[in-house]
Amino acid sequence: ALADIGVTGLAVMGANIARNLARHGHTVALHNRSASRVDELMTKHGSEGNFIPSASITEFVASLKRPRRALIMVQAGAATDAVIEQLADAMEPGDIIIDGGNALYTDTQRREKALRERGLHFVGAGISGGEEGALNGPSIMPGGSAESYEYVGPLLESVAAVVEGAPCCTYIGTDGSGHYVKMVHNGIEYADMQLIGEAYQLMTSAAGLSANEAAEVFAEWNSGVLESYLIEITSEVLGHTDAETGKPLVDVIVDAAGQKGTGRWTVKSALDLGVPVTGIAEAVFARAVSGSRELRAASQGLAGAELATSLTEIFPGTDVESFVADIHSALYASKVVAYAQGFDQLAAGSREYGWDLKLGDLARIWRGGCIIRAQFLGRISDAYAANPQLPSLLLDPYFRDAVESAAASWRRVVTVAAQLGVPAPGFSSALAYYDSVRAKRLPAALIQGLRDYFGAHTYERVDKPGHFHTQWSGDRSEISN
Ligand code: 6PG
Repeated sequence: ALADIGVTGLAVMGANIARNLARHGHTVALHNRSASRVDELMTKHGSEGNFIPSASITEFVASLKRPRRALIMVQAGAATDAVIEQLADAMEPGDIIIDGGNALYTDTQRREKALRERGLHFVGAGISGGEEGALNGPSIMPGGSAESYEYVGPLLESVAAVVEGAPCCTYIGTDGSGHYVKMVHNGIEYADMQLIGEAYQLMTSAAGLSANEAAEVFAEWNSGVLESYLIEITSEVLGHTDAETGKPLVDVIVDAAGQKGTGRWTVKSALDLGVPVTGIAEAVFARAVSGSRELRAASQGLAGAELATSLTEIFPGTDVESFVADIHSALYASKVVAYAQGFDQLAAGSREYGWDLKLGDLARIWRGGCIIRAQFLGRISDAYAANPQLPSLLLDPYFRDAVESAAASWRRVVTVAAQLGVPAPGFSSALAYYDSVRAKRLPAALIQGLRDYFGAHTYERVDKPGHFHTQWSGDRSEISN
């Protein structure tokens, strides 16, 4: 018998997706550059379903049903290009190559175009959920031609996470859209984790909680509006004791965050599109600051004599419990801002590339399987269902009210952070964004004046249409451009 689908690239993610497919009754062809991975999977998990191991790409392609479906699970970049080339050479028009890696969307656009010219379909599928998700049900974001989705959609949907009876997988749009959406998902993931990190640091540095106490707070928070996978695992990580030292593990982990690129790509694209995703950008830069070891070491002597030393010095009468509740509100409000910005970027990307992304559907397939999975996303989905043209999630009645009720606490937390000298770039920049978009007037008027002064860049006036220039170096009269 021939295979329904093949998986090439059997590192953990690939192996787990292959097993997931087999467990759902699909016959799965297996290939890996070094054959030992194929053997290993067969030995350990061969009995979980129908697998067809193969020793070469030609054998692999020959073992697939027509139209052939091959899922690539190798490293993004050159490795992906190399496998695509080999597959394409062995395939026939109408066959489908699916890239399940974290590819850069512009690479996916390029590959899709090149393969289309050769009569092949190319599906760039974002897959989120880590190793566990890959095995038990990830969130899948496939982009490509609508025709290709007819061939791969049902298969991918069958292995995706399920929430309220619906798979966390849907057709995203043409060419690079699936990988673009996955990229922004990761950007939001960065922002969410940064905010959680700040909440934790304020709990310990400002409120004096131990890591274990913080773990308990997060566990509690996981049953309210913040309920999410990331909050759940935050509690697990904070509650874990290092076997070697007996200290909380979090205290022995080096505080320099790594990054593989998707957060940075998100911000680059946002800069090109002119979308202010300040939450994601702060998160990417906060990781960069954390990793700037020399700078941090050299800066240890920077003074802080002006700092307050306790919470009650700043807000007399504040107790730990009420401040922890304030942090909850600050985290929630900042999270709404970060997600609102991420969805703005998705809307802008959709317009730029003509993808017609359905924002509500994206929120819906992120409710399960992926790293940012949460009840919260159901609310976002509802918001776009109520108004698909919503200019910002902050304007949806539910989120508007939620942020409004959190605002006083949010401001207190940002104040405390500033006065104690605890860095909270996520909380404070989210608040600055909120205040910026609400502001009647911004200092951009002055910036326009300065630009006009040194570069004759002109400005618009509030009282009449047109573009104007003041002759700064002459008689300072105004001319209309
Ligand atoms: C997911 C994750 C996954 C991966 C990130 C981590 O959705 O399953 O986002 O894709 O863990 O790429 O990214 P960094 O290494 O950049 O933090």
